This record gives sequence, structure tokens and C-alpha cells, in this order.
Amino acid sequence: EERLRVVPIHQRPDLLPRCADLVNEEWRRSQAARLHSLQKSCREFPVSLVLLAGPPGAERLLGHARLSRVVGHGASLFVESVVVPAAERGKGHGRALMELTERYCRGRGFGRLCLSTHDKQGFYGRLGYAPSGPVQSAGALASVVPLETLHKLMKHSPSA
Ligand code: ACO
Repeated sequence: EERLRVVPIHQRPDLLPRCADLVNEEWRRSQAARLHSLQKSCREFPVSLVLLAGPPGAERLLGHARLSRVVGHGASLFVESVVVPAAERGKGHGRALMELTERYCRGRGFGRLCLSTHDKQGFYGRLGYAPSGPVQSAGALASVVPLETLHKLMKHSPSA
């Protein structure tokens, strides 16, 4: 059993090019533009998390998710750009990515995670996400593209 973990990309700048490639395989942009947006990751948000497996120095990159603050909802974070490499899908990594992202959010003191999706309602439904009212993300895309919004309430656990 490999130990999966999520790490903020700003703690692992060596992984920036591989992470840019992963996100760009799903949402095509130039490498430079993607690196620029990933390099905005910082402790005070947005935070880009990467899902890693394997030993230090030889990690496999198994996912990415970006977290932003939600305007007017101090206890909420907005998650977007959730992606697992195409060849690694259907093996539980997407579930692991979201559950570890939830644990990270709880550990930072946030109690609610929300998101928008065109076509992954089934995936998020399996993970306990339910329809919610509209939110305005601090992230760029979400505030201009009207999409169905889902959310999940998370029990606060300071030890996480
Ligand atoms: N419809 C219904 N159920 C699904 C779907 C789907 N499209 N995809 C996965 N599931 C279910 C699985 O059956 C599984 O159920 P279970 O754990 O209860 O048995 C559960 O969801 C978790 O599946 P995983 O294997 O962990 O998911 P995977 O590793 O394939 O990752 C992901 C899912 C991240 C959506 C992947 O397909 C992907 O990267 N897709 C392309 C990018 C994308 O569309 N991302 C979401 C954008 S929305 C956003 O970012 C907020």
C-alpha cells in the first residue's frame, strides 16, 4: 500500500513543471501561463495541492486541486481544477485527492468546501457533495461562469 498525501505546490516548487503539464492535459493553456497561475499558490490562498505517492525524490504525481477563499463566506473554501492523470483514473485516486483535500481544509479551520461542475455530479455525489446555493469564488473562472454549485460540510477537527 502506497502512502498517498497532498502537499501545497509552494512547498514543492520542483514539481511545478509536472503539475503544469497535468493540469494542461485537461484544460489547455500555455506552459508559461499555467506555471504563472500555479506560482500564485501560497499559504494565504489560493493553494494548489498536489496528490503524491512514492518515496521522496521519486514521487508519482497523481492529482491536483486548487483552493480559494469564498467571498462573504469565511468558513468556506472553493475547490477547482480537480484532476487525476488520464491513465490513473478509475483507481480511487480522485476520491483520495478529495478526501485529503477535505482533511487539509479542516486542518486549516474551514468547515465547508464548495465547487462547480459541468459533468462530474456523479463523482462528487459519491463523495457526499450536495447541491448548494450560488457562491462567488475568489478564483477567476468561477465568478463569471454560471455552473451548478455543490457543497459539503466538514466536521472541524483541529488535530487533522
Ligand atoms: N460519474 C459517476 N461516478 C464517478 C465518476 C463519474 N464520472 N467518476 C468517478 N466516479 C465514482 C467512482 O465510481 C468512485 O465511486 P466509489 O469510490 O464510491 O466506488 C468514486 O467516484 C471515486 O472515483 P475515483 O476512481 O477515485 O475517481 P478518479 O480517480 O477517476 O478521478 C476525476 C475522478 C478527478 C473527476 C477524474 O475523472 C478526472 O481527472 N477527470 C477530468 C478532469 C475533471 O473533469 N475534473 C473535475 C472538474 S470539476 C472541479 O474541478 C470542481
